[in-house]
Amino acid sequence: MSNAIRCAELKDCPLCLSGHMVTKVYGVGEKRNTAVDHVDFTFREGELVSIVGESGSGKTTLAKMLLGLTGVTEGEIYFQGKKRDISTQAKRREYWKSIQAIFQDPFSSFNMFNKIDTVLLDCINMRGGRKLPREKKIEMMTEACRFVNLEFAELTNKYPFELSGGQMQRLMIARVFLLRPKILLADEPTSMIDACSRATILDMLLQLRDEIGMTIIFITHDIGLAYYISDSVYIMEHGKFVESGTADEVILNPKAEYTKRLISDVPKIYEPWDLSTV
Ligand SMILES: Nc1ncnc2c1ncn2[C@@H]1O[C@H](COP(=O)(O)OP(=O)(O)OP(=O)(O)O)[C@@H](O)[C@H]1O
Ligand SMILES: [Mg+2]
Repeated sequence: MSNAIRCAELKDCPLCLSGHMVTKVYGVGEKRNTAVDHVDFTFREGELVSIVGESGSGKTTLAKMLLGLTGVTEGEIYFQGKKRDISTQAKRREYWKSIQAIFQDPFSSFNMFNKIDTVLLDCINMRGGRKLPREKKIEMMTEACRFVNLEFAELTNKYPFELSGGQMQRLMIARVFLLRPKILLADEPTSMIDACSRATILDMLLQLRDEIGMTIIFITHDIGLAYYISDSVYIMEHGKFVESGTADEVILNPKAEYTKRLISDVPKIYEPWDLSTV
């Protein structure tokens, strides 16, 4: 479906995550650093949003605030139209059922002392499947692994650190497949892997989005990739959103100098992307 058609529909979609004047300040005094500076955003159900910016622009800091892993210095985050309340451990746990993340570094995402079947079983349990018969659980884990081209039978007795970087990233997507969160936050999920696996991973994410209808927040340096996959794009510079809109608006008709500069670094941005050559 074209971006324009999707976005016309998306405007009618319910609110998923939004923010008003969201700010993060690290340090005090001379060390004070405003990593995210009064940003506003609206992400809708089923929307694929990219946040694009250079290194140090505040992307991961914003991601951590969205996930509730770090506090918000100023401003407010809304989940499904209501002020997000993660003030207690129980409320945080409940929120985390709705939002999942795939990080730059897959090694940081797993408890390395849990075997892979435990990693996947935890997902089934978290979604209320604790009492399902063992055969059913194995069937679900096998299906999740198949979705990401991993063989469950070969993984059962392994630990995450025994996998390659690319396999580990696919295991993260298998977790998302089982957890079916409302929101998936992917922070440069394809940075560690080769171009071919990268296209496969993106494809899997898009397929998951269509299947589950989840909102995907994709964080990247790569404005060409953002154009290719996104409904909407937010351009981040020094902690601020300098421009946002549909992928076509922002990238085919950029207004901010910073956006123009990012685009000029990508020679082929106006040509359609061909996944087979990525
Ligand atoms: N825990 C922290 N304590 C203090 N400062 C931090 C912390 N985390 C990030 N920063 C600072 O906040 C700013 C934004 O960092 P952030 O990691 O959000 O950037 P980024 O856009 O994700 O960069 P990259 O593309 O390199 O991942 C940087 O100046 C960074 O040094
Ligand atoms: Mg980052």
